Amino acid sequence: MKIFNKSSKLDNVCYDIRGPVLDEAKRMEADGQEILKLNIGNPAPFGFQAPDEIIRQVSANLTKSEGYIDSKGLLAAREAVATYSTATCIPNVDIENVFIGNGVSELIVMATQGLLNDGDEILIPAPDYPLWTAAVVLAGGTPVHYICDEESDWQPDLTDITKKISARSKGIVVINPNNPTGASYSREILDGIVRIAERNELIIFSDEIYDRILYDGTKHISIASLAEDVPCVTLNGLSKSHLITGFRVGWMVFSGKLSGAQGYLEGVNMLASMRLCSNVPAQHAVAVALQNDDIIRSHTSADGRLKKQRDLGYERLKRIPGLSCTKPEAAFYFFPKIDTKMFGIKDDEKFTLDLLKKERVLVVQGTGFNWFEPDHFRIVFLPEAGLLERAFDALEAFLQDYRQT
Ligand SMILES: Cc1ncc(COP(=O)(O)O)c(C=O)c1O
Repeated sequence: MKIFNKSSKLDNVCYDIRGPVLDEAKRMEADGQEILKLNIGNPAPFGFQAPDEIIRQVSANLTKSEGYIDSKGLLAAREAVATYSTATCIPNVDIENVFIGNGVSELIVMATQGLLNDGDEILIPAPDYPLWTAAVVLAGGTPVHYICDEESDWQPDLTDITKKISARSKGIVVINPNNPTGASYSREILDGIVRIAERNELIIFSDEIYDRILYDGTKHISIASLAEDVPCVTLNGLSKSHLITGFRVGWMVFSGKLSGAQGYLEGVNMLASMRLCSNVPAQHAVAVALQNDDIIRSHTSADGRLKKQRDLGYERLKRIPGLSCTKPEAAFYFFPKIDTKMFGIKDDEKFTLDLLKKERVLVVQGTGFNWFEPDHFRIVFLPEAGLLERAFDALEAFLQDYRQT
């Protein structure tokens, strides 16, 4: 019998957010057990609703969305993205260099496929949003992880970045604000990354999908706004800011010094054309959404739901013996550190599996974010207060007598 295996291109591709522990959770659910899923940043199941005007806009335009459109996206959507990018001080934004896609996810794959030759190196933060590492590997590139330093509130370590640059380095990925750490990067650090990119002729990729999910007056700085002399690709979308992860709409903007990047743009254009166009109904919401982010502000403000859940979760985490956590300034994740000696933890996937089986709470192990040690896990703080309290009660009870065998 002929056996059909998965492509060897996928051999080293890893995306554990939806990996074996989730498979076990699904099996338990099929058995009738209720699982508290704190494993993905998906606001809708926790009662977050999209703004009415977005729903109205998409519904009203459904009959105008029947055909293929320009592969770069609807003109009105691209114009709105260009205006938004210019308002965040990104220089020389040209509408021809704005691409709309089926979420940032599709654009990450397109951005890496369009650029990388076998063995080209891309610097990626550790911990990262693992699609970046996976997409680089799938494109034949080599991910080289640089450290974000927990001791410095998870800011990228510039010395480590410099050490990891080689003759094969082609670009550097910045995830700001960061998933999984919730860090928002300082101007000083961003300036440092720009200088390194300039000196070493690297392209900067900046994933800014959480740029409007900020707490306590945190200000977001788009690295492209500091990088006039560096080619920059800024990625963003409406999944998180407008609570529509299922609508699948995002964008990527090329800016800065693009004189040497015309071939790359041609490649990206070709890939965009090959998939004809991205989901059209959601594109009709982009202009309206970018004029109004009241919805997310209402959740992140001093008395907003997300802010209160962040504070509650943080206070609970601080009190659990054996855990410590940097307070997230952005997004909706905690990335706590586990005292591995105290619990004898050598395998963090086993830790999350044990937690799932005993307490029916699903989280993601730190190594799933390309973190080097088995000493972290990620937990989302999207559930409302009562459910979040239940999750932390369960975690606390589990850790009281946990010892990895
Ligand atoms: C940092 C980061 N980038 C990109 C994405 C994917 O976003 P999209 O829904 O636009 O594909 C996520 C989703 O969690 C994310 O956390």
